[in-house]
Amino acid sequence: MMETQSPLRLLTPHDGEPWDIDGYLAGGGYDAWRRVVRDRDPGRVIDELKLAGLRGRGGAGFPTGVKWDKVARHRVTERYFVCNAGEHEPGTVKDRYLIQHHPHRLIEGCCIAALTVGAGESYIYLNAEFLDARDSLARAMEQARARGLLGKNVLGSGADLDLKIFDGHGSYVAGEETAMLESMQGRPAQPKEKPPFYPTDFGLHGKPTLVNNVETLSHVPLILRHGAAWFRDVGTERSPGTMLFSVSGAVNRPGVYERPLGTSLRRIIEECGGGVPDGRSIKAVFPGGPSFAMVGPDDLDLPMDFDALKQAGTGLGSAGVMVVDDATCMVAHTLALSTFFRKESCGQCPSCRIGTEHLETLVANIEEGHGTQGDLDKLLQICGFVKGTGYCTLVTGAAVLVQSSLRLFRHEFEAHVAQRACPFPFRPAAEPAVAVG
Ligand SMILES: Cc1cc2nc3c(=O)[nH]c(=O)nc-3n(C[C@H](O)[C@H](O)[C@H](O)COP(=O)(O)O)c2cc1C
Repeated sequence: MMETQSPLRLLTPHDGEPWDIDGYLAGGGYDAWRRVVRDRDPGRVIDELKLAGLRGRGGAGFPTGVKWDKVARHRVTERYFVCNAGEHEPGTVKDRYLIQHHPHRLIEGCCIAALTVGAGESYIYLNAEFLDARDSLARAMEQARARGLLGKNVLGSGADLDLKIFDGHGSYVAGEETAMLESMQGRPAQPKEKPPFYPTDFGLHGKPTLVNNVETLSHVPLILRHGAAWFRDVGTERSPGTMLFSVSGAVNRPGVYERPLGTSLRRIIEECGGGVPDGRSIKAVFPGGPSFAMVGPDDLDLPMDFDALKQAGTGLGSAGVMVVDDATCMVAHTLALSTFFRKESCGQCPSCRIGTEHLETLVANIEEGHGTQGDLDKLLQICGFVKGTGYCTLVTGAAVLVQSSLRLFRHEFEAHVAQRACPFPFRPAAEPAVAVG
C-alpha cells in the first residue's frame, strides 16, 4: 500500500470521495477557472505563470508560461491541448495518484490551459492501465459538465470547452510527447526529430499543440488563485514551488510526498521514505528515476531542484527517487534497468536499438561471470557512441545508467570479472526493485 503524506499544496486533504465536486468547490475549487472564463485575458494568465516560474514536472523542467505563450501566439489558429498522463517510468507514480485523488484540480488546470492557448480540441492522454484513476477522472468530468463548468456554453459564456480521455495503450516511449501525439493519430508511438517537430509548432494533426504533464497542470489553478508570490514562497529562485516525489526501492515507506523544491535528497529519503529498512545503509540513489545518473551516499545533501541536480551531473526528471541498499549487487541492478531500456526502445533509431541491446548483453555477460576486463572499456565506449543520439533521450538514459554505475561501482564489475561469478549473496529480482501501483 502506498503511503501518502499531505503537508502542503497539491495533496491537500479532501473530504468524501475524491471525485466529489462539492468538497472541491467549497475550498475555492474552479474559482480560477471562473475568473479565466470571465476575463478572457490569456496574456494575464501567461504572465502570472511566468512570474510564478512554474517549470514542467514531466521531466524536462521547461518553463510552463513560455510554452503556453508560444502556442497562444502561434499564427496558426487551429490548435490542440493534450495533458500527458502516460507515466510509464519505473518508480514514478505521482500522476496517477493526483488523477485518482484530486481529479477536479487537474480538470480545472486543463480547462485553463486549453482556453488560454485557444485549443479547439483537448485531450487527457491517460495510461489505460490506470483503471482507478480513469474511473475517478471520468466521474469528476461528468460532475463538472453537470455544473456547467465543462462542455457546451461553459459558465454561460457562450464558449464550448470539453475534455476527452484518450486511452493510451502505452509504453515508456509513448510518454515522450511527440511519440504520444503520433500514437494518438493511429501511428506507432515513435518520437519525431526535434527540431523541427516541436509540438508547439507541429503537434496533433500537424498543428500547434500544448502538451503538459499532470502535475504541472495541477499547480496552475493554485497559482492563479493564490498568486505567483505565494507559489514562490517555497522552493528555490529558479525552481520555485513544491514537487511530488515518488519514493521507492529500499525505504520503509514508499509513497508520494510533496515537498518544496530544493529539499535535500537526505530529507526526502529519511523524513518521507522513513529511511532504509532492516538496519541497512544506502548504496546508491537515482534522484530522478532510471534515466538520470545515480549518486552515492556522499551526495545525499544535494538539493532536489532542476539546476542543482543538473550541475551535479544527474537530473530531477519527474522526481522518481529510487533508493538502492547495500545488499544489492549493482551489476545485477544495472542489468535489470538495462533490460528495461532495451525492451522499451521503440527501435526506430539504430543507435538506440543496437546500443541498448549491446549494453544489456555486455552487462548480462559480466553478471553471469563470463565478462572480461575489456568488456568494461567496451561498455564505456558504447556509452560514448550512443549518448545524445536518437530522436528522444531513451538511449542517453541507458548510457548514463551504465556510466554512473561504472563510475561509482567499477570495483563490483571488476569483482565479477575476477571471480567469474556474481560475488554477492543478495541479488534483486529480474525487474528493478521499485514500487509501481
Ligand atoms: C522516454 C520519455 C518518456 C516520457 N514520459 C513522460 C510521461 O509519462 N509523462 C510526462 O508528462 N512526460 C513524459 N516525458 C516528457 C514529455 O516528452 C514532455 O516533456 C512533457 O510531457 C511536457 O510536459 P511539462 O512541460 O509539463 O513537463 C517523457 C520523455 C521521454 C524522453
